[in-house]
Amino acid sequence: MNIGILGTGMVGTTIGAQLIRLGHTVMVGSRSTENEKAVAWVKSHGAAASLGTFADAATFGEMVFLCTKGDALLDILERVGSNRFAGKTVVDVTNPLDFSKGVPPSLFICNTSSLGEEVQKALPDSFVVKTLNIVNCEVMVNPAKYAPDGTMFLCGNDRDAKEKVRELLTRFGWRDILDLGDITGARGMEMMLPLWLRAWMVTKDVHVAFKAIRH
Ligand SMILES: NC(=O)c1ccc[n+]([C@@H]2O[C@H](COP(=O)([O-])OP(=O)(O)OC[C@H]3O[C@@H](n4cnc5c(N)ncnc54)[C@H](OP(=O)(O)O)[C@@H]3O)[C@@H](O)[C@H]2O)c1
Repeated sequence: MNIGILGTGMVGTTIGAQLIRLGHTVMVGSRSTENEKAVAWVKSHGAAASLGTFADAATFGEMVFLCTKGDALLDILERVGSNRFAGKTVVDVTNPLDFSKGVPPSLFICNTSSLGEEVQKALPDSFVVKTLNIVNCEVMVNPAKYAPDGTMFLCGNDRDAKEKVRELLTRFGWRDILDLGDITGARGMEMMLPLWLRAWMVTKDVHVAFKAIRH
């Protein structure tokens, strides 16, 4: 499948590399097609990888991952135009982190809405699924190594889109996937961030993952 990834940071490129390993063709999107790090990443990932603008990547993808800085995302979507995402499954991996007062960041939206919900509002003709934002990118694509018993949450309004994403997560290695229901489930998923950022800040050497314990 052709997959577009908006974002050339560690998340976009880590997910992109994993998707290529699984046989997909990936275009990462950036503010600039001359982005040196992204050009180098594409070069090292062969014919299945390419680089474009955010708009190019959105157009290219049959499925589109959102992996940009959280506070730039809604502006990016507006500039790209919702039509480029229409009818597609859009996987939102971002977090609404506000670093304006330093570290640790706060959430610039929470409790009564979430970035996931705002993305769905901005892309009314797309099927937004929130997932993976609750763990570091190395854990996202290699749960077998870092969190073999971990639970990955997802949420979104469209059942078929969630099924497609569930299938991909399974290919990433997630064995325990819990559907939190409609896109308002993103509120809780985004509010997990302060906890794992705090755990990382005090240790500098932990990955945090979550486990839903069934009884
Ligand atoms: N790092 C993790 O392990 C992790 C884990 C879970 C969730 N997340 C979330 O995943 C997202 C991506 O994280 P990241 O660490 O890969 O990188 P990031 O630095 O948060 O985002 C990098 C991307 O955002 C774009 N960007 C940055 N500022 C921008 C602006 N002012 N206007 C337009 N685009 C802008 C960059 O564009 P260019 O390509 O032009 O540079 C780049 O593509 C974030 O929302 C983060 O909270 C990260």
